[in-house]
Amino acid sequence: MPLTARTQKKPATVPYLDWPLMRKNIAPQDLDVLVEFLRTNPRLTQSDNVRRFEAEWSRWLGVKYSVFVNSGASANLITMAALRHLHGPGEVIVPTLTWVSDIASVLHAGLTPIFVDIDPATLCMDGVQVLTKLTSRTRGVFLTHVQGFNGLTEPLLSELRDRSIPLIEDVCEAHGATFDGRKLGSLGWASNFSFYFAHHMSTIEGGMICTNDPELHDILRMMRSHGMVREAADPARRGRYAADHPDLNPDFIFAFGAFNVRNTEIGAVLGLSQLARLDANNVQRRHNFGVFLDHLDPTKYRTDFHIEGSCNYAFNLILREPDRDLRDRVEQTLRQAGVEFRRGSAGGGNQLRQPYLRGVVPDGAWRQYPHVEHVHFFGWYIGNYPGLEKARILQLCSLLNTL
Ligand SMILES: Cc1ncc(COP(=O)(O)O)c(C=O)c1O
Repeated sequence: MPLTARTQKKPATVPYLDWPLMRKNIAPQDLDVLVEFLRTNPRLTQSDNVRRFEAEWSRWLGVKYSVFVNSGASANLITMAALRHLHGPGEVIVPTLTWVSDIASVLHAGLTPIFVDIDPATLCMDGVQVLTKLTSRTRGVFLTHVQGFNGLTEPLLSELRDRSIPLIEDVCEAHGATFDGRKLGSLGWASNFSFYFAHHMSTIEGGMICTNDPELHDILRMMRSHGMVREAADPARRGRYAADHPDLNPDFIFAFGAFNVRNTEIGAVLGLSQLARLDANNVQRRHNFGVFLDHLDPTKYRTDFHIEGSCNYAFNLILREPDRDLRDRVEQTLRQAGVEFRRGSAGGGNQLRQPYLRGVVPDGAWRQYPHVEHVHFFGWYIGNYPGLEKARILQLCSLLNTL
């Protein structure tokens, strides 16, 4: 294919930056702690360290209860199952830009997803649009804090509070980010975290559900372990089930036809070790993101995000204009420079375009969401991890600015 005049603007030699989405997220000290644990502990399935990790995580986040599970997707799954159990069938407001499991969990629970476009300044769902979609059928608002940005606003929070509509925060991509000085994940009725590989911290696979509601806490504990009543933390609840079912062994009362989404002691030991470094790592991530935004050419790339309180494990690279030539040059250059990237942002862009939603949303419905459409075709994310040197970030920016 002949080179266009604009393609020729690419620098003659592209430096090799060797920049994966994530580097060294399991540190040597985590492995030392883990090996020592494995040497001395026969029990590796969920036990004391899971309890300790849940308690430490609750303290760090500022909530009463946390439930450690085997992934962020499992956190989504049992949170939506619990919502359906407590509030019955109806609608859940969801973003168009999120991970598949946020929408799939709504569908698995027999609830109906109602989609909302994103706010380009945060990539999270637009709070004003959410308000227009609340009805008597709304059972919850399931908001994703996309890639470290805060999606909460005071009008949204107060309207949900006034109408007693549960807010579920997906914080799988935003550990440590804040709204109004409070950590995201501590403001909703429930919140979900992921500890998968490229996130702010990792337990290999893992997720957490957090809440201040003791009833929800008990339901989640049961749903995590086959629906077993003996998993409930409240002895009165266990007693009630036993009294209502005298024909059943109290050790084997199944309140729900639920799941097994438990994690292990290995995940919890890693989680405790990683949590000790999370805040310091997040300071570095915030600094890195600031350097990136300060040095990108704002006439070509979006740099006007609302970053107050944000804590990004990714650099968001979004073209200002829908320019397909520039998009192709960016991707070619990133590949040549060894910079790993994901087009469409974390979940691959507009969820409404995905095959799993065929038959759930009308064909072509994605066109009604222009802001997520732009990110779908003209946005990427690139890894942002604590060990990134400033010089490398500056090199990447100047490379991108020449395109
Ligand atoms: C917003 C969001 N929710 C849920 C998940 C699922 O988490 P996991 O990969 O741990 O299942 C992810 C995964 O990256 C995510 O980004």
